[in-house]
Amino acid sequence: MERPIETETLAPDEAGIARAAALLRDGGLVSFPTETVYGLGGDATNDRAVARIYEAKGRPRFNPLIAHLPDIDAVDGIAELTGKARDLAQAFWPGPLTLVLPIRPDAGLSPLVSAGLTTVAIRVPDHPLAQKLLRAVGRPVVAPSANPSGRISPTRADHVLAGLSGRIDAVLDGGPCSVGVESTIVGFDPTPVLLRPGGLPEEAIAEALGAPLATRAEDAAITAPGQLSSHYAPAARVRLNAASARPGERLLGFADVDGDMNLSPSGDLVEAAANLFGMFHALDAEGDAPIAVAPIPEKGLGRAINDRLRRAAAPRD
Ligand code: TXA
Ligand code: MG
Repeated sequence: MERPIETETLAPDEAGIARAAALLRDGGLVSFPTETVYGLGGDATNDRAVARIYEAKGRPRFNPLIAHLPDIDAVDGIAELTGKARDLAQAFWPGPLTLVLPIRPDAGLSPLVSAGLTTVAIRVPDHPLAQKLLRAVGRPVVAPSANPSGRISPTRADHVLAGLSGRIDAVLDGGPCSVGVESTIVGFDPTPVLLRPGGLPEEAIAEALGAPLATRAEDAAITAPGQLSSHYAPAARVRLNAASARPGERLLGFADVDGDMNLSPSGDLVEAAANLFGMFHALDAEGDAPIAVAPIPEKGLGRAINDRLRRAAAPRD
């Protein structure tokens, strides 16, 4: 690893955005807020910047990254957005949806972005700071979640600094993220396929398509490495579907199952998603006693929450 660098914290004003854009255009790494989680941004056309992202995160090289753009017009220069993909883009962008699309030959993306695939994951985030930053940069910005690989995604600037301070150039502090889990990823087979549940409920996508969404079979080849087991893990062991804590465990509650913390006392899945990583970070900071988690209903954002929870609880190497 390179020697530590000083990580700047930038205010969410014009000067902060200008500084963040200048750093990105210069090949720097800048974490910025999106409505889902904080991303670790780098210039998608700059191999070195993209390589630094893999390095800063300690991320396995075969994981391709998501390129972020401000609007559909900008996407058209990079990827083929046709048919059902275009329908979904028009219905849900800007928003917590990522589409895996064929790369245009003249896109100019670093090959590290797609890790050698002929497709690229594209997202148009709906966060005022992300929008302003992407327009100021004027290039696609790759941004995986701004956490060390395999750890919890950050939903606040101080989460970013806890994991990556000294390894990135700056963080643009926009306060807490409103959605709190990563974007939903849809690929095309050529029919739409759900590759990762996330901040846009599957039901909303099915309704826009007028048909249910195919899901990648559990045992199919992994095309979205976010599907790998033990991927979103806190340091402590995690046990799911707990009605109560066993001796020595901390309990992360939901609805009526009250614990040391409660994802949503009223049973609101949107609130629970927004709280999920923050509460894991807080429990992680407290110590390494095992964490038991109350049952979460498997519907709407509950699917994304359970997807993350199953990974947090998966056996580790
Ligand atoms: O909400 C989000 O999506 C956040 C914010 C920062 O935008 N970003 C995010 O990026 O979660 P990341 O890099 O942590 O997740 C990218 C996921 C990975 O599972 C990756 O393998 C998958 O997208 N992916 C990227 N390119 C792909 C491709 N060409 N085909 C299939 N999956 C792809
Ligand atoms: Mg991630």
